[in-house]
Amino acid sequence: MVPKRILLIIGGGIAAYKAIELVRLLRKGGYVVRCVLTRAGEQFVTPLTLAALSENKVYTSLFDLKDEVEMGHIQLSREADLVVVAPATADLLAKMAAGMADDLATTLLLATDKPVLAAPAMNVRMWLHAATQRNVATLRGDGVTMIDPDEGEMACGEYGPGRLPEPAAIKNAIDKALGASGAPAALTGQPDFAAADHRPLHGRRILITAGPTHEPIDPVRYIANRSSGKQGFAIAAAAAEAGAEVLLIAGPVALPTPPGVIRVDVETAREMAAEVAQGLPVDAAIMVAAVADWRAADTAAQKIKKDGSGAIAPLALAENPDILAGLAKSPARPPLLIGFAAETNDVLDHAQAKLDRKGCDWIVANDVAADPMGGETNRVHIVSKGGVDSWDRLPKEAVARKLMEKIADELDARVPIDAD
Ligand code: C5P
Repeated sequence: MVPKRILLIIGGGIAAYKAIELVRLLRKGGYVVRCVLTRAGEQFVTPLTLAALSENKVYTSLFDLKDEVEMGHIQLSREADLVVVAPATADLLAKMAAGMADDLATTLLLATDKPVLAAPAMNVRMWLHAATQRNVATLRGDGVTMIDPDEGEMACGEYGPGRLPEPAAIKNAIDKALGASGAPAALTGQPDFAAADHRPLHGRRILITAGPTHEPIDPVRYIANRSSGKQGFAIAAAAAEAGAEVLLIAGPVALPTPPGVIRVDVETAREMAAEVAQGLPVDAAIMVAAVADWRAADTAAQKIKKDGSGAIAPLALAENPDILAGLAKSPARPPLLIGFAAETNDVLDHAQAKLDRKGCDWIVANDVAADPMGGETNRVHIVSKGGVDSWDRLPKEAVARKLMEKIADELDARVPIDAD
């Protein structure tokens, strides 16, 4: 089972110290935890403490450009299974309810497409204030799960509701929100969950592109191809099952996101290229997408009209960037770079030529004359400098699993990249 991921946003209140214990409990429970500290939160707990306990980088600023290259704020907000705000201060709740995004924490909360759980903590008068109660009701209406604050004596000397619940109670609410604890049952309670994972791709980061791209011509038309995305999605699923951290950059397809996979949807080749650059560094990149070779040179703002004269359509095409070839030449080239080739004739010759032209390590070639796009099976040949490895026709899921075994063997000799 892939461990569940928590993005923990820590607001600035005296109760922030309890977040430290919460991180410890979550890690012990097998969750992967990434912490975000607000500026006020930094006054109460240090990024260093949280980094040591979460064993992950701690994010504090929206304008940390280095982090933006490694992991954009959109990706950070979406890679988690659950976003937890603890403590959620009156100020943070107000900003969330108003949809403000003026720092990293609020931007992530606005950008996320994942469930959000908030544990408010504040002075009793602030909690009971009509404005706070209105904000809480708004957030509940927006689908945010709220944990009611505990009642008791407060740090400020007053008595009443407003205390942050104990970390164990917050963890219980998190378990409940996710339907389970973060780790497989047998491992729950082992503090060093990460080291106990013996799956072949554990600790590896793998980037996969999949599906077609759509290149707009005008507001109603686009250039596309017949790629279904099935093989790329099966590869992403197999990589996650094998323990890898998987980033799937998908063109427009009607497929569910495989469990444990971080998915970013794009439309055009240029958007795909930008997301690939954002996703680096990785141990391996598998470029399965059928990227459109051309896009409309100028996208018309209005629907292009025919004039009935029978004249040739005024459609000029511009070449799209070759994402695979570009990645092969980039300083951040992944140690293992894999391309796909769909050919209708002379499959192996074309694949060999493509290997050289693109500068990748392997080409996974398949004959699309015998095996039209969108089918359930594939017969592939893995072409590398070392020779050709031809596999029987197999379901796409089986091709994906076999490919993961081969990738794990290949990467075994290499040191994992240090992404954090
Ligand atoms: O050149 P061709 O489209 O046949 O190459 C296929 C391989 O190159 C696939 O791995 C595909 O994902 C990748 N590719 C790309 N960017 C393009 C065209 C193809 O990454 N613009």
